[in-house]
Amino acid sequence: VFAGIAQAPEDPILGVTVAFNKDPSPVKVNLGVGAYRTEEGKPLVLNVVRCAEQMLINDPSRYKEYLPITGLAEFNKLSAKLIFGADSPAIQENRVVTVQCLSGTGSLRVGGEFLAKHYHEHTIYIPTPTWGNHPKIFTLAGLTARTYRYYDPATRGLDFNGLVEDLSSAPLGSIVLLHACAHNPTGVDPTVDQWEKIRQLMRSKSLLPFFDSAYQGFASGSLDKDAQPVRMFVADGGELLMAQSYAKNMGLYGERVGALSIVCGSADVAVRVESQLKLVIRPMYSSPPLHGPSVVATILRDSEMFNEWTVELKAMADRIISMRQQLFDALKSRGTPGDWSHIIKQIGMFTFTGLNSEQVAFMRQEYHIYMTSDGRISMAGLNMKNLPHLADAIHAAVTK
Ligand code: LMR
Repeated sequence: VFAGIAQAPEDPILGVTVAFNKDPSPVKVNLGVGAYRTEEGKPLVLNVVRCAEQMLINDPSRYKEYLPITGLAEFNKLSAKLIFGADSPAIQENRVVTVQCLSGTGSLRVGGEFLAKHYHEHTIYIPTPTWGNHPKIFTLAGLTARTYRYYDPATRGLDFNGLVEDLSSAPLGSIVLLHACAHNPTGVDPTVDQWEKIRQLMRSKSLLPFFDSAYQGFASGSLDKDAQPVRMFVADGGELLMAQSYAKNMGLYGERVGALSIVCGSADVAVRVESQLKLVIRPMYSSPPLHGPSVVATILRDSEMFNEWTVELKAMADRIISMRQQLFDALKSRGTPGDWSHIIKQIGMFTFTGLNSEQVAFMRQEYHIYMTSDGRISMAGLNMKNLPHLADAIHAAVTK
């Protein structure tokens, strides 16, 4: 019955790893997926995560019972506190409902389906460009995805005027997807002033913010600083949705641990919203997994472990920042044509190099360097050993 089925294309991001794994070259480099690697090119399990896991294993009172539909209650509380701040008025007024979801993707999907069912406006504006999965998640959730201008290839920076124009002409009440920090794939974020203008514009048109926070702590190295734009939106008393992921900032990629929060107008509304979220989740996957949120809660509840986490997180962020400088210097020393200052200006895990798809294909073919076809490289995959090889490849690609 499936004989006529068509071959689907590989995922534009995860498919890069599939191709990389098939390449026998000893010099190959994977700069596709945004996953942290050590200076030795190895995946990293944070020491604080290992300690938390050990504590969980040694605790005889732990069972493998089902979690409630909404997940681990303590994890939900701590996650809301982490992103909105311990002194958030919305939390104190019990206006925030948080449900544990399957990392960022699952949080966005559950939030999208909730909006498709219960919100009067079904159009969601997403930035151009954005993470490749965003349009698919929201479309399959039942929303209609439209775009707003975000990145200006000429300046390799934010197209702030384009963004303002597009959001100004969006129908009243539309949903707007915002990357909380370290925009993926461009590494270009609005300044605090620009965020304030975006907030005023959105609130004046009742546009509903849906934040995707996948990199808290990775942009600046500070969890609080990276949460500042979100907290500006919460401080005005308005509503919003928030998808949080612990994949990158705690290195819990495969554990699929994240949370969806909805900041509501009142505590009473929050109770009803939670009841409806349960109706979205139960037929989708019943209830979320137990291990990941237990690790996160163990770390977030203990001030010593929390501090250790921030130190390890900052070390990851700093290594990426130093790779930016090294790559910039390496291109400069090769006299590679072009202005490469965007490599040091952009923030977070990625550099949006400006290389076109032909140059990307050339680098894969000739240098065994793997990146997404839009020219995004994951800086986290670079180290002192493979960086000269990348600089040689970029130089060859732009001078050929
Ligand atoms: C990425 O953009 O590389 C990451 O968010 C991983 C993913 O799932 O695409």
